[in-house]
Amino acid sequence: MKIISVCSFKGGTAKTSVTLNLGSILALKYSQKVLLIDFDAQANLTAGLGFDPDNHDSLASVLQDKKKAEEVIVKTLMPNLDLLPADTWLERVEVTGVLAADRYSHEKLKKIISRLDYDFVMIDTPPSLCWLTESALIAATHALVCTTSEFYSIKGLQRLSYFMHYIAERHAFDLLGVVLSFWNARGKNNAGFIDVVNETFPGKLFDTKIRRDIAISEAAIHGKPVFKTRPNSRAAQDFTNLTQEVMRRIKSDVTFEAPCLNPPLS
Ligand SMILES: Nc1ncnc2c1ncn2[C@@H]1O[C@H](COP(=O)(O)OP(=O)(O)OP(=O)(O)O)[C@@H](O)[C@H]1O
Ligand SMILES: [Mg+2]
Repeated sequence: MKIISVCSFKGGTAKTSVTLNLGSILALKYSQKVLLIDFDAQANLTAGLGFDPDNHDSLASVLQDKKKAEEVIVKTLMPNLDLLPADTWLERVEVTGVLAADRYSHEKLKKIISRLDYDFVMIDTPPSLCWLTESALIAATHALVCTTSEFYSIKGLQRLSYFMHYIAERHAFDLLGVVLSFWNARGKNNAGFIDVVNETFPGKLFDTKIRRDIAISEAAIHGKPVFKTRPNSRAAQDFTNLTQEVMRRIKSDVTFEAPCLNPPLS
């Protein structure tokens, strides 16, 4: 079972869109059995797949031992694609109920996932280096970093690399790669930004960039991946290419080291 945590230390870097679209392509085009986990109290992935977070039990109940994962997982309209939904109860779930007294609460998600049977589990995380993101990386066999070519993303990348390095020392995972979204091939600062990514995560930038495309937000409104709503769009093409790259990297036997050897930021 491959468990991919999708993260960034900045809001709006397309984590949820990447999780939803990659997961759907793996399920539909590669016939993999896929579980998407919404591990963000914003519940955008849940809503983006057409579910109302207020009408479903969430992972919070599973973390609190009130429900089994199997009771909370829902089937999406797409074959092979299941969802473990989120709701606002995930916010600070670690300081309430049984988790508050659990010294090893960070490892609970890993235990929950280990009892499930999927080819791929993709975890969408919130835009902060909080308990949720730490738990998602501890549970992960692989991580995928999302970014955009903006100044604030650079700062976020450096902090995230240090955070990942710190976790990977105790819970090994492979960094699959860094995905650049909202890409504008004519952007003035592209070269400088790519240099920063290469310095922070050497050799990890995916060749495929996800170009800016309104088709992505339109698809989310319909609760579907973009290749279903606009199969000929740039975004559908880019996500298909990205999935191919992800599959190549996952299949190659290259063992990645801990994600970053840069010193911590002061
Ligand atoms: N390549 C793109 N082009 C245009 N719009 C995009 C693109 N990728 C994502 N979006 C849109 O941008 C918004 C933010 O994307 P998304 O929710 O995937 O980011 P996120 O990193 O998950 O955000 P958050 O940090 O808040 O969880 C959404 O409305 C999404 O539909
Ligand atoms: Mg999100």
